[in-house]
Amino acid sequence: MSSPQKGLVELPDSHQRAVMLGDPGYHRDPAEVFSHLRRTYGPVAPVLLDGQVPAWLVLGHRELTQVTTDTRLFARNVGRWRLRDQIPADWPVWPMVGGGPAGESLLYTEGAEHRQRAGAVSRALAGIDPVEFRAQCESHAEDLVESVAHSGRAELMAQYALLLPVMVMGWALGVPAKENRDLVAAFTDQVAGGDRALAGHQHIRRTMQALVQRVRERPSADAASRLAADPVGLNDEQLCQDLIVTILAGHQTTAYWMGNAIYRMVTDPRHTDAFIRGRLAVSQALREVLWDDTPTQIFAGRWTSRPAHLGHVTIPAGDLVMLGLAAANTDPHLRPEPGVGVRGSRAYLSYSHGPHSCPDPARDLAEAIVTAGIEVLLDRLPDLHLACSPEQVRWQRSVWMRGLECLPVNFTPTPPTTRYAGGTPWI
Ligand code: HEM
Repeated sequence: MSSPQKGLVELPDSHQRAVMLGDPGYHRDPAEVFSHLRRTYGPVAPVLLDGQVPAWLVLGHRELTQVTTDTRLFARNVGRWRLRDQIPADWPVWPMVGGGPAGESLLYTEGAEHRQRAGAVSRALAGIDPVEFRAQCESHAEDLVESVAHSGRAELMAQYALLLPVMVMGWALGVPAKENRDLVAAFTDQVAGGDRALAGHQHIRRTMQALVQRVRERPSADAASRLAADPVGLNDEQLCQDLIVTILAGHQTTAYWMGNAIYRMVTDPRHTDAFIRGRLAVSQALREVLWDDTPTQIFAGRWTSRPAHLGHVTIPAGDLVMLGLAAANTDPHLRPEPGVGVRGSRAYLSYSHGPHSCPDPARDLAEAIVTAGIEVLLDRLPDLHLACSPEQVRWQRSVWMRGLECLPVNFTPTPPTTRYAGGTPWI
């Protein structure tokens, strides 16, 4: 943890000695950084982002619920940020904090406009047939496992967890399958926030612009066509932005959730019992992963519409407030005994909370993808184990997400299965 010397903006007194998020210590062990912040500052801590940009990180479960519920005080429009005009357009963090100076996606809308646009996305996603969706998840998961099963080893992030969500969400939205691999690379670059972040964002944008053009000219039964036809009447730019949010919010989160679940399954006896020895249903075991190792570490953000008292601090008007979702899930007020689960409870904040939280139909889709992904893996490769020591796996260098860069595993090779290819076998 360090405070670099020179930044993009002048630092207020409150942030002179603040911790920089995203340094090597953070990537190694974000939970330790959150504990340090909690011990030093309590439930709300001053922090710095790339370029020494000041923000507040909410670590307390109660405080985070308060922030996400009070949408007037902790508002969503990036236009409220008093530093907005001082930060250059090429700041690599823009795509994850307000979408840049032109950010017009549903994420940053407020009040009635947000209700309408979030409602339209929810309706478009709710129109996906759950039975067909589950069948797509299983079929793609089977194909992906099949492609590695004979070899006895795999890298499960690149060859499985990062591919499955884009395959099924691409199918559901109507994105051509040939785009899948380039999209995965672009998502990863954007979320990493490094020097390829803006290029990654541009690639996602071009792909979604092509989708907008296609659904305007040739609407089909996919979710993008449903969103385009929704009575809310999105223009092309709004449609493009909301499709970007949907595919991006849906992809990295789901892929890293699956990766974190597999990692826990092969390294942590509590989770091994839950998944492999079947102590819990897979969906229940997956919720424990959300409590202990959520893919969504920090989400940006909210902006104070006037001075706000939160925890022990008073946050000035127009400041950036970031949601410490992972920290809130392990808040000692909620979980006094570290590592002990909260069996059966869904009070985790991994999907956030309040009117802007992840829409219910999206949560159902995410759960369907990850559950199918894990079930197929357990079924086809039951003796899966890590091919390196747990300390050797590398985590993504992202402030926002906790996900594995790679997940090498070994297992007993299995011959190809003969899959039913349709038709009537007895004729
Ligand atoms: C198919 C999977 C998913 C889709 C399509 C999806 C879609 C969305 C959309 C459209 C939003 C914007 C909501 C709004 O602004 O009103 C959103 C927000 C969000 N989603 Fe999801 N999501 C998915 C999976 C997940 C998963 C697995 C997680 C975490 C475990 C997650 C966490 C979040 C969070 C933290 C937000 C931001 C909430 C806020 O600002 O308070 N999502 N998601």
